[in-house]
Amino acid sequence: MKRPRSITLRLTLYFSIASTAVLLVGGFVIGRLVEAHLAEQDLRTLQGKLELVRATLADTRTQRGVAPLSAALDSALIGHHDLFVQVIGPDGRILYASSDLLFPEVLRSSTGPGAAATEIRSITWESDDRRYRGIAGSAATGNAGEAPAIAEVALNIDFHRSFMAEFRNSLWLAIAAGIVISALLGWVSARRGLAPARRMLKLTQRISANRLGERLPPESVPAELSDLAVAFNDMLDRLEDSFRRLSDFSSDLAHELRTPVGNLMMQTQVALSKARTADEYREVLYSNLEEYERLAHMTSDMLFLAKADNGLIQNADETVSLDEEIRQLFAFYDALSEERGVDLVLIGEGCVRGDRAMLRRALGNLLANAIRHTAHGKAITVRIGRSGNRTELRVENPGEPIAGEHLPRLFDRFYRVDPSRRSKGDGAGLGLAITKSIIEAHGGEIGASCAEGSVRFEIALPAG
Ligand SMILES: Nc1ncnc2c1ncn2[C@@H]1O[C@H](COP(=O)(O)OP(=O)(O)O)[C@@H](O)[C@H]1O
Ligand SMILES: [Mg+2]
Repeated sequence: MKRPRSITLRLTLYFSIASTAVLLVGGFVIGRLVEAHLAEQDLRTLQGKLELVRATLADTRTQRGVAPLSAALDSALIGHHDLFVQVIGPDGRILYASSDLLFPEVLRSSTGPGAAATEIRSITWESDDRRYRGIAGSAATGNAGEAPAIAEVALNIDFHRSFMAEFRNSLWLAIAAGIVISALLGWVSARRGLAPARRMLKLTQRISANRLGERLPPESVPAELSDLAVAFNDMLDRLEDSFRRLSDFSSDLAHELRTPVGNLMMQTQVALSKARTADEYREVLYSNLEEYERLAHMTSDMLFLAKADNGLIQNADETVSLDEEIRQLFAFYDALSEERGVDLVLIGEGCVRGDRAMLRRALGNLLANAIRHTAHGKAITVRIGRSGNRTELRVENPGEPIAGEHLPRLFDRFYRVDPSRRSKGDGAGLGLAITKSIIEAHGGEIGASCAEGSVRFEIALPAG
C-alpha cells in the first residue's frame, strides 16, 4: 500500500491552493475594476467634450462655410492635446477634423439620430500603434431645418494602457509574494497544529508491556484527538485485561498442577517409606490413578481451549435439537441428580445449527454445575425459547447468590468463586471457559446473572 502523504505537506498544499485561488480571483477582479473605472472616467470626459462640440456647433452656422466652424472648434478645444474631434455633416462630408486621425466606421454607426447622451457607449480602437477611445453623437447644427451632424470625439488612452500594464505587473508580483507567504504560513500553522499529535506520540512511547497502566489524559489533547485518545485508552484497557488474564492464567496453571503432583509425590513417598503388602500398593496406585485422571482431564481441557483460541476446533454443521440434547443429558445425569435430590425440568424446544457433540459438552458443563450448586429438594429449570432469529436457552437453579464482581469472571480459565473449595466432583474451573468457547465458536453469546436466589446461565445462538 502506498504510504499516505504527510499531513503537514497536505495541509500546506491545500492552504496554498486555497489562498492562490483567492488571490488570483482577487487580482483579476481588482484589475477589472480599475480598468472599468478608467473607462468610466474616459467616458465622462468624452461626454463633456461631446457636449462642448454640440454647443459650439449649435452656435455656428455651417452654411456660412467650414472655416468659421473650424475656427470655433479649434478655439473651443485649445489646450486639449489628447483630444480628437471630427464632425461629419448630414451629407457625410467631413465638416471638421482636429487632426488626421482615422475614426473607425463603427463609431459613426453606433449612434442613431436620436441616441440619448446616457445611452452612448464608448468604442476603443487602435491606429498607428496608439490606442483610442471615442464616442459619437448627433449634434444639431445651427441651421434651422437641417438634419443633425455627427460629432465624434476620441481620447488617446495610451497613458492608461501603460498605467494598467504597470499596475498589473505590481499586482501579479504582490499576488506571487502572497502565495509564497501563505504557503509558508500554511506550513508553519500545519506544524504547530500537529504539535498535540507529536505530544501524544511521546506519551504513547512511554507505554510498554510493564507500564500498561499509563493512559493518555483525553482532556489534555485537542477535541479532534480526544476520540483517538479515548479509543487508544480503551485498547490499552483491553490489552491490560488480556495481559492480566494471561499472567493470571500461568500462575493459576502452576497452582493447579502443584496440588495433584504434590499429592502424588506424597502418596508415593509414604508408600515407599516401608515394605507394603500387594493390597496396600494397589490402594496407593488406585488413589494415584484418581490424581492422574484429574491431571489428564485438565490437560485435555486446556488443549481444547488452546485449540479453540486458535480457531482449530472442528465445527460440524448439522441441525441440533436443543430440547433433545437436554433430555439426553437429563438421562445421563439422572443418577447424580437423584442422589442429590434435585429435580430436572425442561420447558420449551428449539433448534440450532452446529456440532452436536460440542454443544452437548457445553450444555453438560452447565447442567453439571447446576446440579452441584443446587440444594437438596430444589429443581433446576432449563427453558428453551426463541427471540427473533436466535434460539435462547436458560439454565436456572436456586442456589447461593454469586456476588456481582464474580459474574463476568466465571468464564475465565481456572476461575472459581470459592477458590478453597476443591472437592472431588469439582473440576479445575475450566468448564465454563470451555462452554463459552464452544458457544462463541457457534456464533452465540453466553452470560451469567443472579437474581432472587437463582443463578442463571443464558445462551443465545443463531436459530437452526
Ligand atoms: N449453577 C451455578 N451456581 C453457582 N455457582 C456456579 C454455578 N455454575 C458455576 N458456578 C461457579 O462458577 C465457577 C466456575 O465454574 P466452572 O468453570 O464450571 O468450574 P468448576 O465447575 O470446575 O468449578 C464454579 O467454581 C462456581 O463457583
Ligand atoms: Mg464445572
